[in-house]
Amino acid sequence: VTVAAVVPAAGRGERLGPGAPKALRRIGGQPLLVHAVRALGAAPSVEVVVVAAPAADVQAVSDLLADLSFDARIRVVAGGPSRQASVGLALAVLDDHPDVDVVLVHDAARPLVPVALIESVVAAVRSGASAVVPGMPVADTIKRIETVDATALVAETLDRAGLRAIQTPQGFDRAVLVAAHAAAAELGAAAAAAPATDDAALVERFGHRIHVVHGDEEAFKVTRPIDLVLAEALLARRRAAEQ
Ligand code: C5P
Repeated sequence: VTVAAVVPAAGRGERLGPGAPKALRRIGGQPLLVHAVRALGAAPSVEVVVVAAPAADVQAVSDLLADLSFDARIRVVAGGPSRQASVGLALAVLDDHPDVDVVLVHDAARPLVPVALIESVVAAVRSGASAVVPGMPVADTIKRIETVDATALVAETLDRAGLRAIQTPQGFDRAVLVAAHAAAAELGAAAAAAPATDDAALVERFGHRIHVVHGDEEAFKVTRPIDLVLAEALLARRRAAEQ
């Protein structure tokens, strides 16, 4: 089995406040993207990493990643206007890698993903699942809301026990993921379907079963300013533990 990892890293990261594209914000002196690619490169099963960078930063990102030394091959392409488009553009690069049969998709915004989680997703795909996502129980009670006359009202309270917050890396049989993206791109052009916020959603539309493995709290997504504080603290703890 040959595994490639696709890394959407082309988002602006507006919820993080003004500044560089999110994947290029630094924690512990290094861009989020570098941490994420390092983690993937450190996973023994990952052989190719394809990064979808902000269009204006493709050269800068290539230079940044050229300094990393590990066995996985790294390719950088320009991303698109949505996460889904960025993943689609990165998948196209795999045409040059016909040997790849398992594809992971991992957000650059999840820089501290443990190698053990990456390998557990790969293992689940290897054992026969065509789609695998890591899930975490949710701590908050989740309610669906509706807005009536500019007032937010609770429409429904969901049963927390049956909910999972889904992380990345998500793992797929290559053919299944590529077909789901191709179909979604066609649909998107025809009916203005909202782009999917994760890859499993595209595969779900095809009726494939998506397996859920245990996620890891260290695979959290850096979205808001407070997440940078958490990421810095976690990184400092890891560095202290290494000494
Ligand atoms: O915006 P969100 O936090 O969902 O982004 C998840 C990941 O998708 C991030 O790593 C971001 O860089 C990436 N993304 C992308 N292209 C976009 C928008 C987001 O690659 N147009």
